Amino acid sequence: MIQGTIALIGCGNMGRCLLSGLIADGYSIQRLRASDISADRLRLITNRFPVLTSTDNTRIVQGADVVVLAVKPEVMKTVATTLAAAIGRQRPLVISIAAGITTRSLSQWLGPEVAIVRAMPNTPALVGSGAAALFANEFVQEQQREIAELVLRAVGLTVWLDEETLMDAVTAVSGSGPAYFFLLMELVERSAIEMGLPRDLARLLTLQTAFGAAKMALEASVDTATLRNQVTSRGGTTEQAIRVLQDAGLSGIVDQALKAAQRRSQELAKLFGES
Ligand SMILES: NC(=O)c1ccc[n+]([C@@H]2O[C@H](COP(=O)([O-])OP(=O)(O)OC[C@H]3O[C@@H](n4cnc5c(N)ncnc54)[C@H](OP(=O)(O)O)[C@@H]3O)[C@@H](O)[C@H]2O)c1
Repeated sequence: MIQGTIALIGCGNMGRCLLSGLIADGYSIQRLRASDISADRLRLITNRFPVLTSTDNTRIVQGADVVVLAVKPEVMKTVATTLAAAIGRQRPLVISIAAGITTRSLSQWLGPEVAIVRAMPNTPALVGSGAAALFANEFVQEQQREIAELVLRAVGLTVWLDEETLMDAVTAVSGSGPAYFFLLMELVERSAIEMGLPRDLARLLTLQTAFGAAKMALEASVDTATLRNQVTSRGGTTEQAIRVLQDAGLSGIVDQALKAAQRRSQELAKLFGES
């Protein structure tokens, strides 16, 4: 296990989830620190884990080998510029999980030649089943890549991107993705109730089917189109349902939806990122 002091800035949903993931993975509590603007939120952490906390971000960063920035994109510039002097002195690896904030913007705020990994996790990280894409700038060393993976792997799977521009596509696919699947589950559940199934049964059957389908697809050696064909018998019930979805233009709608998310990700990067 890689050792080094990790300072976490921002203890909201994602920050707390990374912290508990690292602790569950056996990362030494003595090597973890956390800061947040809210003393109440920090108390929630110290009630569970005896980690060093402070409302002073600069204090928490002192002596850290890794700094994880888990604040909202709109406050990232303020947080990063305040930490620039400390980071310039210590040269830790900086991991940012903020949506839309590029490594270029972070470099402008944190100072030149800082090793930065930008990561895009998603909400299933809250239950340890996240999917995160990572991009490293040119100053990140091999061992620092391993540390970044260790931090994000604590809450799910990780993949590396060679081009940072692909982060907008990742945002559209896995960042926003849970909501698309929630919507589909919501609609299936609603129809199930309308067809007469009791509410709790409708929910359980819908969710277990979604879970089972995802598990099957992850474990299969064939693509999802093949899996779908395998369960779609000619003249059967599934064929009827799939035909209705396709005739209504589902594939075009999904494509439009993902591209709209990708465009919004690019717009947000401009809004919060470039200074
Ligand atoms: N949630 C997701 O599914 C998800 C997915 C991918 C990426 N992300 C990224 O992860 C980051 C965190 O998201 P989140 O959902 O965890 O947000 P969150 O729950 O709002 O957490 C951010 C935390 O940072 C605190 N904070 C605000 N200003 C601060 C400052 N100057 N110094 C220290 N802490 C400060 C916030 O306090 P206040 O609430 O009092 O302002 C809050 O506790 C965001 O950049 C987001 O883009 C989130």
